[in-house]
Amino acid sequence: MRHLIDPTDLSMQELDEIINLALDIIDNREKYADACKGKKLATLFYEPSTRTRLSFTAAMMELGGSVLGFSDAKNSSVSKGETCADTSKVISCFADIIAMRHFEEGAALVAAMNATVPVINAGDGSHSHPTQTLTDLLTIKREIGRFDNITIGFCGDLRFGRTVHSLIKAMSRYKGVKVVLIAPDQLRLPSYMKHEVCEMNNIPYVEVSSMEEVMDQLDVLYMTRVQKERFLDEDEFDRLKDSFILDPAKLKNARPEMRILHPLPRVNEITVEVDADPRAAYFRQVENGKFVRMALILKLLEWAKDDSKTIDLVPKDVIRNEYVCHNKRCISNMENVDSLFRPATDKPGKFRCVYCESKAK
Ligand code: CP
Repeated sequence: MRHLIDPTDLSMQELDEIINLALDIIDNREKYADACKGKKLATLFYEPSTRTRLSFTAAMMELGGSVLGFSDAKNSSVSKGETCADTSKVISCFADIIAMRHFEEGAALVAAMNATVPVINAGDGSHSHPTQTLTDLLTIKREIGRFDNITIGFCGDLRFGRTVHSLIKAMSRYKGVKVVLIAPDQLRLPSYMKHEVCEMNNIPYVEVSSMEEVMDQLDVLYMTRVQKERFLDEDEFDRLKDSFILDPAKLKNARPEMRILHPLPRVNEITVEVDADPRAAYFRQVENGKFVRMALILKLLEWAKDDSKTIDLVPKDVIRNEYVCHNKRCISNMENVDSLFRPATDKPGKFRCVYCESKAK
């Protein structure tokens, strides 16, 4: 079986296949109108969503398939205490493919370990959001025309922003990529990402405290909102929420061919005046999300029939049930699942949780 839990689950060739298929879908919509006739997608959303859930729904409908699921776990048997593992086994009896969003980090991995149909991670806590990454990559392809030799600035909440984590991982596989990190001290990119993703892939990165100082160097400015729902301390959120606000004045030195991306929803980190700027690509990005999810659904259903496409969900050198995850929001601290750790590549002798990448306690 083949799933999409982390953006690097896809080889570079598979990524190209998905992007190229999405481009073909954009040009030949009718050709795909019955491509999923008789197939069902289950959307299991334990956390709020507008774009991801509805673009998955629209994607399956445009492929001629059907959609079932829930958008509020309180109305499902989750409210009676059913685990993510059991829910995935149950839904596998009803659907051909599952898209799951969950507030616990690692939930999609647990779902994939238990489902008998492909599982797509539609966002797991602050950990990963691989289909947003596919959306971002298709947008970069359509707007900039290449993935190599790009300087990309990530601005806002780089600590909790799962879309940032996933996109940096994906971009680290291309040549000549440079990363600029623009965040307040409290919301900086986690150090394991800087070490394991940037340094180990020879991706140069700099951390700066204002967007103006780097604006003229950027090919892409990836804005993000401060993730209120991840803060344990509301006062800290209030102190940080307005750290970076993009307005037309700040774009004064930006290149004409630069593009502004944002996974959305926007709160106030981009003023509405910026929307009229041709460099603002974030609403075009939303529509790309539907096309790339159509391509992903088609590919995962195709690969589900091909045993050679199966990949290991858990690394071979995993250490089972010896450590406890440091992260309170990790599924391994919520459900009765094996604790799984792998050696940390950035810190010899240390271990990282396979579900959420946090340190072992
Ligand atoms: N970008 C994104 O994941 O949006 P939603 O939370 O609305 O799905």
